[in-house]
Amino acid sequence: MQGFLLTFLAIHAQLCVAVKGWMFKRCDQNPFCERNREYAQSPNPSTYRIDPHSVDFSNPASIRGNIIKSLSEKETEVANAVTKDNTIVLPFTLEIITDDIIRFLVDELERKFEIEDKDLEAKLNTERFSPADYMLDASQAHLRNPKTMPKLEATSSGLSIEYGTSNKVLLSFSPLRLEVSHRGETQVVLNKANQFNFEHSRSRREHERNSNWEDRFDGYTDYHLRGPESVAMDTSFEGYSHLYGIPEHADSLDLRDTQGKEPYRLFNVDIFEYETKSPMPMYGSIPLITSQKPKHAVGVFWLNAADTYVDISKKQTESAAHWMSEAGKLDVYVLVGDTPKDVLSSYGTLTGTSQLPQQFSIGYHQCRWNYQSQEELLSVHARMDENEFPFDAIWLDLEWSDDRRYFAWNKRTFPDAEKMLSDLDETKRKLVVLNDPHIKAKPDYDVFTDLRDNGLLIKDMTGSKDYHAHCWPGDSSWVDSFNPTSWQFWKKFHALGTKLGGYAKNIYIWSDMSEPSVFSGSETTAHKSIMHHGGWQHRDVHNLYGQTIFNMTYDALNARYNKEQRPFVLTRSFFAGSQKLGPTWTGDNQAEWEYLRAATPTILTLGAAGYPFTGADVGGFFKNPSDELLLRWYQIGIFYPFFRAHAHIESRYREPYLLDKSWRDAVRESIELRYQLLPELYTAFWDANQQLAPIMRPLFFEYPNYPEVYGVEDQFLVGSSLMSKPITQEGQTSVEVLMPGNDIFYNYFTGEEVGRDGPSNSYEIKNVQIDTIPLFVRGGHIVFRKDRKRRSSQLMRNDPYTLLIAVDHNGNSHGHLYNDDGVSFEYDTKSEYLVADVDFSGSGIKGTPRHSASHTFANHRVERIIVYGAQFTRAESSSAGSIHVHPIENGFIIRNPAVSLEDNWFIQLY
Ligand code: NOJ
Repeated sequence: MQGFLLTFLAIHAQLCVAVKGWMFKRCDQNPFCERNREYAQSPNPSTYRIDPHSVDFSNPASIRGNIIKSLSEKETEVANAVTKDNTIVLPFTLEIITDDIIRFLVDELERKFEIEDKDLEAKLNTERFSPADYMLDASQAHLRNPKTMPKLEATSSGLSIEYGTSNKVLLSFSPLRLEVSHRGETQVVLNKANQFNFEHSRSRREHERNSNWEDRFDGYTDYHLRGPESVAMDTSFEGYSHLYGIPEHADSLDLRDTQGKEPYRLFNVDIFEYETKSPMPMYGSIPLITSQKPKHAVGVFWLNAADTYVDISKKQTESAAHWMSEAGKLDVYVLVGDTPKDVLSSYGTLTGTSQLPQQFSIGYHQCRWNYQSQEELLSVHARMDENEFPFDAIWLDLEWSDDRRYFAWNKRTFPDAEKMLSDLDETKRKLVVLNDPHIKAKPDYDVFTDLRDNGLLIKDMTGSKDYHAHCWPGDSSWVDSFNPTSWQFWKKFHALGTKLGGYAKNIYIWSDMSEPSVFSGSETTAHKSIMHHGGWQHRDVHNLYGQTIFNMTYDALNARYNKEQRPFVLTRSFFAGSQKLGPTWTGDNQAEWEYLRAATPTILTLGAAGYPFTGADVGGFFKNPSDELLLRWYQIGIFYPFFRAHAHIESRYREPYLLDKSWRDAVRESIELRYQLLPELYTAFWDANQQLAPIMRPLFFEYPNYPEVYGVEDQFLVGSSLMSKPITQEGQTSVEVLMPGNDIFYNYFTGEEVGRDGPSNSYEIKNVQIDTIPLFVRGGHIVFRKDRKRRSSQLMRNDPYTLLIAVDHNGNSHGHLYNDDGVSFEYDTKSEYLVADVDFSGSGIKGTPRHSASHTFANHRVERIIVYGAQFTRAESSSAGSIHVHPIENGFIIRNPAVSLEDNWFIQLY
């Protein structure tokens, strides 16, 4: 109870801003982490070796065998006193997946824990949990077969398996080790530092440390019913100096060395007022580390959904990660390739690529906790229009609901939601409403009684009673999304015709607090011993829970809209694989310059770890931004893949039309720039859909052979053609921009050539003004944009295109546009999409549709071509004959070339 009170008070004192560090376990307060760190230093740890007689290599793509664990002297003494046994059998599988991934999976042969409460013992699942069974899409399994059959050879120390075109894994039996090479160079070694540790199950009498069976923290006791069962291993990255990934942390892009410090923690929590530059856990977890060096790139994916810590060590030419998870199977994947693109693409084959979002969802989202009434929401909508701010969606936070009974409206403040939705629809605007997975536990709430009466709520640690705790509605229970029947009910609650917007087809969902956030729980989340469908302890599945809610909500919207439109759901909690379903954002940041700066590496890290569709609250959630900070945030926010302004309920209203004229105009210009670039962004979303390429890209993603860009975290590319180095300091008067690689860059707005002298020189923008947005277009690339100003993205659908062609050192340029109907799944189910290539060379400009749809879903006429870095004076178009060429400072403009991106066309230049 004491813990609950402290937590509850802490949550409701949200305005005294500082993270409550004491509410979250450090490694030395979390017994499995402390044990594994100790184990890694131990002079005589247990040993692990493969029993050669057990190995079955009849299928070289799936080798099986047993690892034998020999207990350390100390453990043997205790174990022998009880069982007379000091060897433990751990079956393993080494699989080749696609041509570039290996998977090493270790389980336990015998699970022999004993629990006094026999009823509970019968309910508990005796297996170790594997998230792979839940998140790797079984229907895609065929894509994961290797195309080339691996070749196997016995060696003096174990086995050597060649796979793909240039990869090899050496499996050493004793000591246990795996060495993965690509193009003849060792890339990743598993268990190089002998930190492999598999805490086998045992009886309580067999272990002397009490903390293995229960630990107390912040007034709460965590009962480890099954005893110690952590899994750990080190993975070393050979020749790699920078490591990226394991989001979510508000920290640097390049992971820091944690030796002697706190490790990074992956444990989804509601961490209000989080600190920057911190390894503390946040709302989501992706246990993937990626890296690159010239000509090679790697990824290590530690697929575990339990509480996890990662220690990082760095040396000049070698980096390593020590992964430690509290429970579950040991399931690790090593991905190799030539470039970071290869690695993310393979990771996409494994966990799914990013769904193409509806066109509207990449526009601007206007949000606040809370627009308090129907009237207020419609007035914000009207004032945005009056002040000519384009936007696509407006959001309602908690207070839309009937006293936190989600799915039902507060009728006093929102008397006619259907009318409000239809008013929004007149300008093609969408509404997104918040919906949390905690369910108000009141007998008058039909959602609660339905779930309760059908056994669809998470159970408490007895496995028999529903779990109750506190969240926004007061006493709450949580929907158990591990139960397939819950998905049926969730569909019913979201269906057309229900209280949730009646028959409106422009309502979407914001899935918040799904870590899950529990105000009366240790570390603000659910007790680890509560029980899910299938007998899983929450401990096993914790980091996956938010994703199952996300998935279930996505599925429910799919049912609501009969798969006629792509669902839009925003999630706060996520896990590997969530990228398939929609966007996430970086949670409750603050209106401080420090948080503006921190958002960029956090979003870049998410992209580097396979989550492209992300953003941060523009303006900062807590506190009140100055006009300057708010403006600068918009000027970066326009490049966030998910672009939403949001504010805490106690902060001042800050809708952009409230600003004084000069700030207001500058914010409007930045949002207009976002809308101008929507075609380019949508094409970048297609890259994310095809290959899981980040949308906001770290420089190393496009320049992997230039080590000087590996640590850059305050500058990025948008797609592959645009680069920005935002202004993030108060009163900043100049910006020093790194011009990566050997490319020419041009000032996006003026065409001025910068950075031709490469490699990787820098360029200074002097005399920064309030409307300065440092944006550059990359030589050799073409930007597709729409220049007419409209109120929303849907109103731009039939507007003509402007092509911005930036030529490279050889006077050439290439680009492509992806487009589809922006709403339906027909791009996927019927291949109804357009991919149009445009090539520029010394002789002219050529347009070629690479893939065409069977019908026209938008106008693709080109109304203007701007060329930077080449000079021509005359042009003749294949369709319209001679066309006018207008010279500009560093290039020329062609107006009305009379061509369409759906056709083949050519413009001869003279
Ligand atoms: C927490 C979310 O992070 C925040 O964005 C939201 O406004 C509050 N919950 C209230 O729903």
